[in-house]
Amino acid sequence: MKDLEDLYGQTTERILVTCALPYVNNVPHLGNMVPILSADVYSRYLRLKEIPSIYICATDEHGTRTEMEASKKGVGEEEYCADLHRKMLEIFQWFHVDFDHFGRTSCEQNHQLTQSIFGALEKNGYVLDEENEQLYDLEAEMYLPDTYVTGTCPYCSNSEAQGDQCDVCGRLLDPLELISPKSKVSGATPEKRSTRHLFLRLDLLSPKIKSWLEAQEHWEGIIKNQPLGWIAEGMRPRAITRDLKWGVKVPREGFQDKVFYVWFDAPIGYIAATAEWAEKEGVVLEDWWKSEKSRVIHFLGKDNVPFHTIMWPATLIGSDQGWSLPY
Ligand code: MF3
Ligand code: ZN
Repeated sequence: MKDLEDLYGQTTERILVTCALPYVNNVPHLGNMVPILSADVYSRYLRLKEIPSIYICATDEHGTRTEMEASKKGVGEEEYCADLHRKMLEIFQWFHVDFDHFGRTSCEQNHQLTQSIFGALEKNGYVLDEENEQLYDLEAEMYLPDTYVTGTCPYCSNSEAQGDQCDVCGRLLDPLELISPKSKVSGATPEKRSTRHLFLRLDLLSPKIKSWLEAQEHWEGIIKNQPLGWIAEGMRPRAITRDLKWGVKVPREGFQDKVFYVWFDAPIGYIAATAEWAEKEGVVLEDWWKSEKSRVIHFLGKDNVPFHTIMWPATLIGSDQGWSLPY
């Protein structure tokens, strides 16, 4: 009860509600609707209680899936995303979902914020520039993004693990860790090739993430134990750039042909979409994102937990720009 008093009582003046930003690679499915509708119910409850709150969502538009889907349809990425964004909004309206703003991660604000947060991470020494090996599909002639590789999980032996994550044990993976990897694009066995990338120093940030996680007394179960367990096993730097065209440009010499990893810019989209809303309403963004008196509450599915308890807080903590961490 103490937590509720704290949440709805004097120390909290504003609540920012978000749901996991749906990818544009598909029309919405039940997996999208569960967090979207849950957050909508919660946000309506806050309005009834007259607690100042906003409900923010956006389409998650970058990454390989978008490039591939757009090229399959023979249209440009921008046109493809605009079309899917419109379709999604129609579907959410049909469900009477009451967003205060439904933005897009490809918006101008997100490009700027992503580059600015990256700049802060770099200045604070949390970015590593290194050559690494990546899986290259010789048949499709492309570097394979994480989600385009499947194989066996080295931790739990699930034979259908995805390159970025194992759905059985939940761990974040690197495609190179997979046993007998296969390309989802061509079905071929990819080969290792060296390419240059930027990495977020989760190794250096993990003590800070750990203290923050431990301080979340109102968290329980896997939401706390899973990330703490991974930290105990040791964190490695994680690549935040990709060999792609569609995405946020990397402001650094030698990275002209690369963009940021979609999971780097997507959560920043929460802030960017709030910025668009704030501009429209003539209110101050920082009141919602940099104030002790505001709370950011994310609604998401279990598969999004590692990104919201490790990667996203690491990005915010490492930037040291005063952004609110997830409540
Ligand atoms: N698009 C992702 C998914 O559907 C969720 C992104 S949430 C955000 O799994 F934090 F990145 F925005
Ligand atoms: Zn596993």
